[in-house]
Amino acid sequence: MSEPLIQLQGVSRIYDLGRVQVAALQEVDLTVEPGEFLAIVGPSGSGKSTLMNIVGCLDRPTAGTYTLAGTPVAELNDDGLARLRSRTIGFVFQSYNLLPRTSALENVATPLLYQGLSRKDRLARARAALERLGLGDRVDHVPTELSGGQQQRVAIARALVTEPALLLADEPTGNLDSASGADVMTILRELNAAGRTIVMITHDSDVASSARRQVHVRDGRLVA
Ligand SMILES: Nc1ncnc2c1ncn2[C@@H]1O[C@H](COP(=O)(O)OP(=O)(O)OP(=O)(O)O)[C@@H](O)[C@H]1O
Ligand SMILES: [Mg+2]
Repeated sequence: MSEPLIQLQGVSRIYDLGRVQVAALQEVDLTVEPGEFLAIVGPSGSGKSTLMNIVGCLDRPTAGTYTLAGTPVAELNDDGLARLRSRTIGFVFQSYNLLPRTSALENVATPLLYQGLSRKDRLARARAALERLGLGDRVDHVPTELSGGQQQRVAIARALVTEPALLLADEPTGNLDSASGADVMTILRELNAAGRTIVMITHDSDVASSARRQVHVRDGRLVA
């Protein structure tokens, strides 16, 4: 068997606010194998974003261990963690997070800046990623010239252009109408069918039902 892509063991995240401590995550165990499509579901305040930030190496546990692609993140300094993150994870956010006044093509090419590719190669790969997402005719559009669904597809192209092992999506359909949301879910299912590992965070059980496995978060704990 191959090693897990994600392994959390006894992971807690306590926010220390001086007089009070908030236990946002408590003793979470979670294993994600390569090729999975997992939805993390829970109500507002349950700890989803806290978990996503840890899985995405944007934050560290205050207790327990997190191993990403075989690397225990506690052994890395912040630079090492940032390198592991950019090599391993593509992020998709609810609010797209595209650079304004910047074409779809340049947005998608941005993550390749640190990979030692020529500008010509970066743009060629960005164009190919946009074409895979059905946006070959929108490469020169800036975000305000695109619909929400198209902006999210640009964001997915940007997340995938580096061919990361993991696509990590936080409420990817949260700002979309139901038709564009369904389109985005179809795209995620197709990407997963092609072998991409996907972890998606959502409070919407309809959206979660697109994933092949669901885990539920309540008050900072995973529940069956
Ligand atoms: N930086 C912080 N400092 C202190 N407490 C925090 C911080 N961030 C989150 N919390 C607390 O941790 C708990 C979990 O928050 P989190 O943002 O992970 O929830 P969530 O499930 O993502 O909610 P939502 O669906 O509303 O985005 C909440 O009680 C929240 O108030
Ligand atoms: Mg959240």
